[in-house]
Amino acid sequence: VLAIRLSPARGNPAVLALPIAEPVGAAGATLLPVDLPAALALAEEVEAFLADVGHTGAAGVLHALPRPVAKIRRVLLVGVGAGDEAGWRTAGAALARAAAHEPALSVALPLDTDPAAMRGLAEGLLLASYRFRLGADRTATLRQVTVLGAQSVGNASALAAARVIAEATYLARDLTNMPSLEKSPAWFAERIEKAAGNRPGLRVSVRDPQQLAAEGFGGILAVGAGSSRGPRLLELGWRPRGARRHVVLIGKGVTFDSGGICIKPRDGMKLMRKDMGGAAAICAATLGAAALNLPVRITALAPLAENMVSGGAFRPGDVVRHYGGQTSEILNTDAEGRLVLADVLAYAVRRLRPDVIVDLATLTGANAVALGKRTAALYSDNDELADQLAAAGAAAGEKMWRLPLVDDYLEQIGSDLADVANSSEGGAGSITAALFLREFVGSARDIWAHLDMSAPAWVDGADGELVKGATGWGVRTLLRWLEGLATG
Ligand code: BES
Ligand code: MN
Ligand code: ZN
Repeated sequence: VLAIRLSPARGNPAVLALPIAEPVGAAGATLLPVDLPAALALAEEVEAFLADVGHTGAAGVLHALPRPVAKIRRVLLVGVGAGDEAGWRTAGAALARAAAHEPALSVALPLDTDPAAMRGLAEGLLLASYRFRLGADRTATLRQVTVLGAQSVGNASALAAARVIAEATYLARDLTNMPSLEKSPAWFAERIEKAAGNRPGLRVSVRDPQQLAAEGFGGILAVGAGSSRGPRLLELGWRPRGARRHVVLIGKGVTFDSGGICIKPRDGMKLMRKDMGGAAAICAATLGAAALNLPVRITALAPLAENMVSGGAFRPGDVVRHYGGQTSEILNTDAEGRLVLADVLAYAVRRLRPDVIVDLATLTGANAVALGKRTAALYSDNDELADQLAAAGAAAGEKMWRLPLVDDYLEQIGSDLADVANSSEGGAGSITAALFLREFVGSARDIWAHLDMSAPAWVDGADGELVKGATGWGVRTLLRWLEGLATG
């Protein structure tokens, strides 16, 4: 992986990046003042080049000035927009792409660069350098970035935080990109056990189908019944000294969603290995919180099941008895995510005494219908919690939009046979799924939030810090939010 180090501003690096600010008012884009003598010598030539190419300075816009002097082979003039964290994140991502096949890159920072900008730059560089390959990959990639002229304690710790966040995001992306041939429920649980290692404060436990049956996790068992590879419930705990709050994170972990007996067409099925993106994000964020040593107690719960078709599969018309005794009527075996989550929500409320519960799930195609490809749907009856999560997402660069839990739509998931039905025909599919989940949160509904992240879990092509494939959506939001809980 890419190494980033802070160094004094000197030398003539072969590939040098210089920051370009977006103009305020009528003036053109300008080179931000950096301390590097080599850059000062080039200032006039750079300013002329900026005007010639019409550089806007917008975040991520990049023009390369080739070989301005013998030693410096390429100068990458990268827009940083307003120079805030988001602008630097986009700039970092653009640099990672422009220098992808260079062995090394140096980035000169403006004199007054603050830790937020440093964190943005590092996150952008690292996140956009991510690659997932299962075959032999012989393409050379960027190994070393030297950041010139920003050595401070604040910037060093911003860099360290960015590294933890990027590593957690890498883990979530790796898990989500992995094909389901390999990625069984047991495989996923083992990967998290391995990643947790023996770190003090971390604890992993995994329930197998027998234990799930003994304790009454009927939703997880029903969804997993059609697969030859049985379901699991993964529980990952981070218990630091001095923690005052207990956060429960829950993530949908359907390792493949064929739709079950209500089978999906090929087109809707081909990417359904990503249907455990919520589980990947909450586990990776919890491991990240441990790596950052955040003083918040976390229990991450991932119901893991493969939704398949076989003689053992659950069927439309079945009634499932969830953990704690509530029942649901199966109208559609493809609305399986809410069934595995229902068990775990009920378990968390009854057994864990949480202060707050947040679940992440690739729950409905309706998420993208309502909000497009890049925005998750956020639900909560708690305004403060909703605002906290939305603010964390905005700061971290992950978009979400709050949708209402419309009480009137509850009748859409009513059932004559059971407490609730698992699907409805009345539209508002993301909202009715959220309402279904809320039925299992019971008295804890005021401390619960749900994120339907079906859409932003995956991206069809490179964009900013995102690389084609799994995005790791939610890791950055959760870590930002947990950092806020730890300090606030
Ligand atoms: N895993 C899907 C939702 C999904 C769709 C995630 C597209 C990512 C991209 C979920 O299990 C599902 O099939 N939902 C159904 C619910 C319906 C049957 C009530 C849907 O959205 O169509
Ligand atoms: Mn489904
Ligand atoms: Zn699903």
